[in-house]
Amino acid sequence: PGPDAHVGYGKIILLGEHSVVYGHHAIAAPIGLSVRAEATRTTSSAEPVIADWSVDGSLREPIREDISHRVAALITGRLGVPAAGLRVEVFSDLPRASGLGASAAFAVAVIRAVASRFDLRLSDAEVSNLAFECERIVHGTPSGIDNTVATFGRPVLFRKTDAAGGHEIHDIVTPYPIPVAIGLSGVHALTSQTVSLVRTAWQKNPARYDSIFAQIDALVLAGVDALRHGDIAELGELMNINQGLLNALQVSSPEIEQLVAIARRAGALGAKLTGGGGGGAMIAIAEPGGTEPIIAAMRRAGFATYLTELR
Ligand code: PMV
Repeated sequence: PGPDAHVGYGKIILLGEHSVVYGHHAIAAPIGLSVRAEATRTTSSAEPVIADWSVDGSLREPIREDISHRVAALITGRLGVPAAGLRVEVFSDLPRASGLGASAAFAVAVIRAVASRFDLRLSDAEVSNLAFECERIVHGTPSGIDNTVATFGRPVLFRKTDAAGGHEIHDIVTPYPIPVAIGLSGVHALTSQTVSLVRTAWQKNPARYDSIFAQIDALVLAGVDALRHGDIAELGELMNINQGLLNALQVSSPEIEQLVAIARRAGALGAKLTGGGGGGAMIAIAEPGGTEPIIAAMRRAGFATYLTELR
């Protein structure tokens, strides 16, 4: 079955965050957490409203009003539908600013809900492209990987080919589902900030950073093979080296390092930050059946966790 008509998918980046912004490959996959939206039209002439609610109906930290207005104006403008009186309610079980792609999932859910309210049939590519434009409002210079997985909801090998949103995607295959333990550092981090820190460092010394990005690219390509063969030990080693290089890019954090240490001590074959870093989330893999001790150890240390599967 294709993606759900009102949903945007949360994601993890298995290998390749940050270097993906510079045109290198990355592997990303959806997780079981997502954002759902419902759009209604009222007869009022008021500005469009995007109300952000959690699954249980309690109001969450609302999105900044100026951003929600710009996103609503962009979406209604591009879809050619009236903005006045539009109300979009968002139901999310994805934690925000956690490196799990919540902002892209949010944009995809809102676009799909608005399109469906006005009986517009958008292709997944159209949804993804418009979500990329929304991400530019929130993020600045996104690679496009978040909106891609948020839209298609399946694991992909991704590479950006130009700054305007051009990219290539290939499906990722695994012989059997690979369990992934996710730990939330509890520290909210803005991807736009870590991306701009890396950019500043790269601008000062492009050769030094380009060589780190190229090393990460090689890990990603090796990861595609490891996934194809279901070689979890090899995949884990690649993730561990990727974490070392993310640390070299200075986007790790003390909480992420703690989560990585806990996961490895509990038997993880690979553990690294996922997404923008600076806080956010950590992912760890183990042989099937091996993720429960990792989840338990992170919980004991007081971290929120989530178990998903790469399939
Ligand atoms: O923090 P997230 O889930 O939005 O992931 C960001 C991934 C980066 O590679 C750091 C940025 C990007 O646009 O690809």
